[in-house]
Amino acid sequence: MKPKELNKEAKRMLEMIDSGSTSMISEDAAPYYVDISTYTDKELFDLEKKKLFRERPLFMALSCDIPNPGDFVTNEDTGIPVVITRNQKGKIKAYLNVCRHRAGRLIDEPCGNKARGFVCPYHAWKYDLDGNLTSITGEQTFGEIDKSLHSLIELPAEEKYGMIYVQSTPGPAQSIDDILGEELGHQMASWDLSSMHLVNRGIFDMPTNWKLAMDTFCEGYHFGPLHPDTIGATSYSNVMTYDRYNYNHRIGFPAKSIVDLKEQKEKDWKAFNHFSFVYFLFPNITFLVSPLFINYFELYPGSEVGEHLTRFSLYARKEMKTKEEKKEAQEQFEFIYSVVESDDYWVSENVMKGFRSGLHPYSVFGRNEFSLINVHQAFRESVGLDPNGVELKRSRKK
Ligand code: FES
Ligand SMILES: [Fe+2]
Repeated sequence: MKPKELNKEAKRMLEMIDSGSTSMISEDAAPYYVDISTYTDKELFDLEKKKLFRERPLFMALSCDIPNPGDFVTNEDTGIPVVITRNQKGKIKAYLNVCRHRAGRLIDEPCGNKARGFVCPYHAWKYDLDGNLTSITGEQTFGEIDKSLHSLIELPAEEKYGMIYVQSTPGPAQSIDDILGEELGHQMASWDLSSMHLVNRGIFDMPTNWKLAMDTFCEGYHFGPLHPDTIGATSYSNVMTYDRYNYNHRIGFPAKSIVDLKEQKEKDWKAFNHFSFVYFLFPNITFLVSPLFINYFELYPGSEVGEHLTRFSLYARKEMKTKEEKKEAQEQFEFIYSVVESDDYWVSENVMKGFRSGLHPYSVFGRNEFSLINVHQAFRESVGLDPNGVELKRSRKK
């Protein structure tokens, strides 16, 4: 983002700090009561898997993950095995990761390069990067079939702003611009995601519902109490700018050092050294941008309603050339991983235990938990439920 835009955000945060305030949803929209079935109902969970994770394009990779023809990543977190690759012309392609002979798993590795195409490990049928079946092993004994009817099953895929969105089922798919909207598209373009440098990846496999895990990324109200020695020591608790873009949002979290800007002339500000942005990219991505790093969290439902998987990838915004830079990047990875594991997901796991008791009927979101209200409304609306469902109506003042 341009310095002018970053300065504007810093000013919003400074005003909030001065007035002891934060972004708040309108009075009539909160408190918002969330029935616990949101996190425990198996039928809703199955509906979300279908509607949110299989019938919508999801942000599944960064362009920098597969920069060259034949580079690929695989993904089976929606329950559907997918391979995403780049063809010889540099265009992104996604296929069902299933051989057209007898459904062999085409590629078993999470990532790599297959510039010469894909070879099924079962009977060695071959496909090019455009999904065409190019060779049938022992064709003279197999008998004749029309190869053109046995191409890989192609899935909707689009690359824009350094992001790759893939829908796990064939059929019409929303474009990235429709998903993000113009303003957010402009912002994502400004982060230059196609030239990030991967630092490390990690996995959290947790006994919590995926939305409960997502909730922990949606507010800074908990920074002081839950992270007193880390994020809570360096960032303001309960001070957040909030902006919504369709179903997505951005929260700005000021560091305590932001007040130093008041002592400087605005033309000298390096505002982005004093806050970070956390984006929510509907329905399952949390994306934290800071001056040096991009923290990319992908959340997927598990096999049961109370299980989920988070994939965490840390990218450096500049290439780490020296030993010190590499060490700093690895330390950042370990720091974020441990905060999420021992604080946010620890709390989330315990909340899930509370829900499992069946005795806690609902949770309540306040005006300062603006983003949680909007996120849950978006989840409801996108599976065909009333976004202002019984929970909200029940909470309205008479
Ligand atoms: S299943 Fe792939 S070649 Fe037989
Ligand atoms: Fe947290």
